Amino acid sequence: MRRRWMAAVAITMAGLLSLTACGGGDQAGGGGEASRQQVEVFSWWTGPGEADGLKAMREIFEKQNPNLTFYDAAVAGGSGDKARALLASKLQADTPPDTFQGHAGAELQGYIKAGDLEPVNFLYDELKLRDVYPEQLIEQITVDGNIYSVPVNIHRSNVLWFNPSVLKEAGISEPPKTIEEFITALEAVKKTGKIPLSIGSEWTVVHLLENVLLGTLGTDAYNALWSADADWAGPEMTKALENFKTILSYAGTPQDDWQPAAKQVADGEAAFNIMGDWAYGYFHNPPDGGLGKTSKEDFDWAPAPGTEGTFMWLSDSFTLPKGAPNRDGAIAWLKVAASKEGQDAFNPKKGSIPARTDADKSLYTDYLADALEDWSSNKLAGSIQHGVTVSDPWRAAINEAVGLFQQDPDVATLQEALVNAAKTHGQ
Ligand code: GAL
Repeated sequence: MRRRWMAAVAITMAGLLSLTACGGGDQAGGGGEASRQQVEVFSWWTGPGEADGLKAMREIFEKQNPNLTFYDAAVAGGSGDKARALLASKLQADTPPDTFQGHAGAELQGYIKAGDLEPVNFLYDELKLRDVYPEQLIEQITVDGNIYSVPVNIHRSNVLWFNPSVLKEAGISEPPKTIEEFITALEAVKKTGKIPLSIGSEWTVVHLLENVLLGTLGTDAYNALWSADADWAGPEMTKALENFKTILSYAGTPQDDWQPAAKQVADGEAAFNIMGDWAYGYFHNPPDGGLGKTSKEDFDWAPAPGTEGTFMWLSDSFTLPKGAPNRDGAIAWLKVAASKEGQDAFNPKKGSIPARTDADKSLYTDYLADALEDWSSNKLAGSIQHGVTVSDPWRAAINEAVGLFQQDPDVATLQEALVNAAKTHGQ
């Protein structure tokens, strides 16, 4: 198990960040006694599917802490693109929220190395958390023996979501297992007039890229990209980027975010969408939080082509920023996020599985039962877009390169940009 994780992740230094402020939330901040009792929880879980999980955990927090007010500082935008930019400016200005969501792995290591976070070893001691988290997950949130966050879940990035009726109409009898089969299936759907592959905003295309890289290179070569043996310039990478170009040529009009792209599949307008399993919460949760769709009828899933047997993971975790205005309130939130009750309320709604190993397995049915099983048996690879393998500046460089590629799909230019990004930000 240890080796699986070690191979899946590289720890990279991060300098941070910049950018501007916008806002979100359901209460104004401000001074005085009242604001000291409020706990500002910063995330990007505002949208359909995402907000349901947060709400479930918030309810437990409020029940357990009648003296504290939950201040939802969530900033809209899938994958936290906008939220992380605002967070960076808040941290730079020394005005942190009481707690914020950060991805375990290289992204969190960036905050730690920038000195933004307090260690929370005391919580791990008090709540005996070392006994209930996988040791290797703790490694991802540790620097120099100190632990800096509380993971609340494990998400899977490499899921191919599809509409069974659209596949049937195109004569596709089972979901494609390899990249080659995927391209054949995309072509078959195109002939029906339906959208072969739905995509959302720019980050969803980077999400697609990480899946095509894993599916083409294979798990060992993908995991080597974050090590000293990385080969970004070689012919295998060229082949992977050519696959990416071909697959992207079947994409529909980019939607505003991941939800409208996923919805095109659930509504039978598109055949495929490659997205993390937060899409499951969105498809499955009852309206208004989700679409209330029927599993296996309106939507179905398979490992992204070429990635069967590998679980590309990421983990949302909550932190204790240095200078948190309501430190005790933040600790109260972290305790809920760390608890079995909190995780078992949050994850079935969020479309993720618990980070704790002692959760109530009976709550994880349907897609989530598959995820639990694969998590314990598959090889592991870390997500690029969701903070496991690359620091935030590296991720931003990859995003920029992919954005340019969408305007002018030249494989050589993209590969050169990826090589340079790895040189600048990698090992
Ligand atoms: C990821 C995050 C998930 C989900 C997704 C889409 O970065 O880890 O929890 O929110 O973005 O917004």
